[in-house]
Amino acid sequence: MSPSRERLVKHWDSMAPSYDRHTAWLERRGMRAHREWLGRLAHGDTLEIAIGTGANLQHYASDVRLTGLDWSPAMVEVARQRAEELGREVRLVTADADVLPFDDASFDTVVSTLALCCVPDVAGTLREALRVLRSGGQLLLVDHVSSTSWPVRALQHVVELGSVPLQNEHFTRRPLHTLRGLGVTVEEHERTTLGMLERVRARKT
Ligand SMILES: C[S@@+](CC[C@H](N)C(=O)[O-])C[C@H]1O[C@@H](n2cnc3c(N)ncnc32)[C@H](O)[C@@H]1O
Repeated sequence: MSPSRERLVKHWDSMAPSYDRHTAWLERRGMRAHREWLGRLAHGDTLEIAIGTGANLQHYASDVRLTGLDWSPAMVEVARQRAEELGREVRLVTADADVLPFDDASFDTVVSTLALCCVPDVAGTLREALRVLRSGGQLLLVDHVSSTSWPVRALQHVVELGSVPLQNEHFTRRPLHTLRGLGVTVEEHERTTLGMLERVRARKT
C-alpha cells in the first residue's frame, strides 16, 4: 500500500534541502543530457509539473514563459531561490499535479522529469497534463523506468518492496505505455543508462 498524500508531501518537504546532493550521481549518469534535450525543445507557454528544486531551470531558453508546479512547499521554495540566483522569471504554484489549477489548453509545452515515478496516479497526472496542453502542443517526459537489463530490473523490483510503501517511489513504471493509451502521437522516445532513463516527446493532436 502507498502512503497518504499528506505523508508524501511531508516526505518531499523533508527531502528539499538535500535533494540535489542525493541525485548528483544520476545527473552525471545521463540525466543532465536529458535536461539539456528538453531545454532545447520547450517553447512558448511552458508548464513544468513537479518542478522540485528546479533542476531544469537553467536549461530553458530565455524566451520560454515558465510556470512550475509542485505539491511540496519546501521544494517550491528551493526552486524559487534557484530561479532568483539564475535571474530566471518563473511563476511558481503549490498544487497537486493531478488536479492542475489551470484552464484547458493553456500551454504550448508541458514538461515532467523524475516525477511520474512517484506521483500517486500516473494516468490521472498525464490526463491533466494533456488537458492543459494546447492542440499541437508537446509533452516532454524524462523518467527512470524499468531497465532493459534483467539483473538491474530484478534489483529494481527488490528496491520497490521498500520504496513504494515508504515513499511511493517506483522503479519499474513505463509512462510511455500509459501515454500511448491516451490518444497522443509519440514522436520520439529513447532510453539510456542501461535503459533506466527514458525520454519521450509526444504531441497532442
Ligand atoms: C524526484 S523529485 C523530481 C523533481 C524534479 N522534477 C527533477 O527533475 O529533479 C519528485 C517531485 O515530484 C513532486 N511530486 C510528487 N507527486 C506530486 C504530485 N502529485 N503533485 C505535485 N508534485 C508532486 C515532489 O514533491 C518532488 O518535488
